[in-house]
Amino acid sequence: MKHTQIIADSFPALHQTIGDNRLVYLDSAATTQKPQCVIDAIVAYYEHDNANIHRGVHTLSQRATQAYENARLQIANLLHCSRHEEVIFVRGATEAINLIAQAYARPRLGEGDVILITEMEHHSNIVPWQLVCEQTGASLEVVPVCDDGSLDMEAYKSLLTKDVVIVSMAHVSNAIGTINPVKEICKLAREVGATTVVDGAQATGHLRVDISDIDCDFYAISGHKMFGPTGIGCLFGKYELLQEMEPWQGGGDMILSVSFEETTWNDVPFKFEAGTPNIAGAIGLGVAVSWIQEIGYDKISKHEQELLAYGREVLLAIDGVDIVGASKHNAGVIAFTLRGVHPHDVGTILDHAGVAIRTGNHCAEPLMKRFGLAATCRASLCIYNTRKDLDCLGVGIKEAMRILG
Ligand code: ALA
Repeated sequence: MKHTQIIADSFPALHQTIGDNRLVYLDSAATTQKPQCVIDAIVAYYEHDNANIHRGVHTLSQRATQAYENARLQIANLLHCSRHEEVIFVRGATEAINLIAQAYARPRLGEGDVILITEMEHHSNIVPWQLVCEQTGASLEVVPVCDDGSLDMEAYKSLLTKDVVIVSMAHVSNAIGTINPVKEICKLAREVGATTVVDGAQATGHLRVDISDIDCDFYAISGHKMFGPTGIGCLFGKYELLQEMEPWQGGGDMILSVSFEETTWNDVPFKFEAGTPNIAGAIGLGVAVSWIQEIGYDKISKHEQELLAYGREVLLAIDGVDIVGASKHNAGVIAFTLRGVHPHDVGTILDHAGVAIRTGNHCAEPLMKRFGLAATCRASLCIYNTRKDLDCLGVGIKEAMRILG
């Protein structure tokens, strides 16, 4: 616990009060706080190295290019990619999935093809596929979720027919924290020849991700959910697939040569990075990766699992609290409701006590519907949280019950 305090100390935003209360930040699934080293790296880039990348012979441009490309190497190393060219910088996991949908799926799919997703997806892993279905005539099918929040694997197996061309699923559910058996899901999908997409937005800040072991075709990550800045994320794609794909946006840096008669494409990954990218964001994300590696996923996961067990205990001891979806393999996300009380009211009372949680549908409306709810409260845990934070959550919930229940 002492070590956790040292970790928490490196997050300046955590050291503030909301009204008279210490901030208790339990909304890391929405975005993690940023360690000082990430903030410093962004400031240092703008103070010393600000220049465009891949375009200048001058010193600043070379420094910026080197730092940006180093970040790509760090991410490839973190995810165990076989080559760093498999990492494409994008705005975030949402853009990564849209890129796959438009540049990979759209030209390849037609009537009779099926895209298989799950009932626990974030809207960003639903809507891009609905757009592709409209554009191509393909159809969308959905694997149901069991009462405990786990994926119904028997249903998955029966839905996995030879018509399934793409299987896309969250590694970790943002709304309830279920950790899906993505390796097994991808293996089964491969047996019917389907291409696999994993939305890893909620995974890479919390658990070790080995892409070569999962053996998926595409994996989307979000920088701001793993201690990096907002507006930066990555798409991992298998090199051969990325090579086969046409670009999805045109502009500078993604071309080899341009004429009015014919334009040719740059190599992977640059073919998919049109225009000036979020250079500072990529550099910040690279530093966030180093920070994660310094602490180590073993320590992060162990700490969050201990907090998850403790948090569930704290909540279940309060009369009127129901936990929504608590699967055996769960990340540090606790979704809950208070009988007879609207989640937004709970969130507001908790905020007065300095406790930040998320309330609402969590961009997962179909999952809410599955559980017969319009909204839930969600406390999401991170390496910088402590048992004391969960005690504050418990006190705040009791107060909400006293006022509203
Ligand atoms: N996807 C983010 C969340 O789950 C915003 O809160």
